[in-house]
Amino acid sequence: MRRLVSETTLRPRQLILPMFVAEGATQPRPIASMPGVVQHTRESLRKAAVDAVRAGVGGLMIFGVPQTRDAVGSGATDENGILNVALRDLRAELGDDTVLMADTCLDEFTDHGHCGVLDADGGVDNDATLKVYAEMGVAQAEAGAHMLGPSGMMDGQVGAIREALDDAGHQDTAILAYSAKYASAFYGPFREAVDSQLKGDRKTYQQDPGNAREALREIELDVNEGADAVMIKPALAYLDVLRAAAEVSPVPVAAYNISGEYAMVEAAAANGWLDRERTIVEVLTSIRRAGADMILTYWAAEAAAWLD
Ligand code: PBG
Repeated sequence: MRRLVSETTLRPRQLILPMFVAEGATQPRPIASMPGVVQHTRESLRKAAVDAVRAGVGGLMIFGVPQTRDAVGSGATDENGILNVALRDLRAELGDDTVLMADTCLDEFTDHGHCGVLDADGGVDNDATLKVYAEMGVAQAEAGAHMLGPSGMMDGQVGAIREALDDAGHQDTAILAYSAKYASAFYGPFREAVDSQLKGDRKTYQQDPGNAREALREIELDVNEGADAVMIKPALAYLDVLRAAAEVSPVPVAAYNISGEYAMVEAAAANGWLDRERTIVEVLTSIRRAGADMILTYWAAEAAAWLD
């Protein structure tokens, strides 16, 4: 009877698996603060991606970890940069079997770790960054990404990328906008996952955790600039924002169950303090209940197998 009257569905197709690929890696490298998640080699990425798609996940979000970094994040726009190379590998392997997504952001590629290029005073230069994002987005579309995920929270990033994609003939490449992204302590483990060089914080471009109204304004701006879907991030500490977004968004809403949320559950489960599988399903169900159409989660492939 509980099954009959259950209000919230949780299906593999609603889950997106974020994956890391490291340039020059000869074997997968564990990420200490995210037990079970690795920086892949090109080869292990390909295999894990095939397995995830077989398990039924709805999409893959790929992050690149370059070997060398510079002030402008050249590896992001270079067709031979690790992320673009990996996208090409995956598109060749998977074709249209899944939605292949790319992180469209510079932080993994810059030697200062910021999501954009810097101005003379060391602050992030919003408009100069837009030009790089536009170039990066086109490179990712050319490498085979179906959907781009601009995660840098620069003003105007969706419009700039949309225009560049259209000009380059990539009208069919979609944009999943990280619309409401908070300056969160929960990103901690991710910084290890991408060997982030960041000193300081992202408070000049990511949102204040106390602000909800601002998130709705960001969504409206992104939709007007051409976003095909919007995202709230992190998920668990922002379920109220997610609910509010789901109520007004004219496009599908994603939520990112981020690295710190993953690490908390894994650490507690490893200590025997939580029932791991029940906790994970409850976490993902709560994010769906709050209004997410899709969830980015490091548990995507594993959870998909339980749900099927
Ligand atoms: C930026 C980006 C971040 C995450 C996804 N994209 C880090 C940040 O903004 O500092 C975090 C994801 C996670 O914590 O799981 N490219």
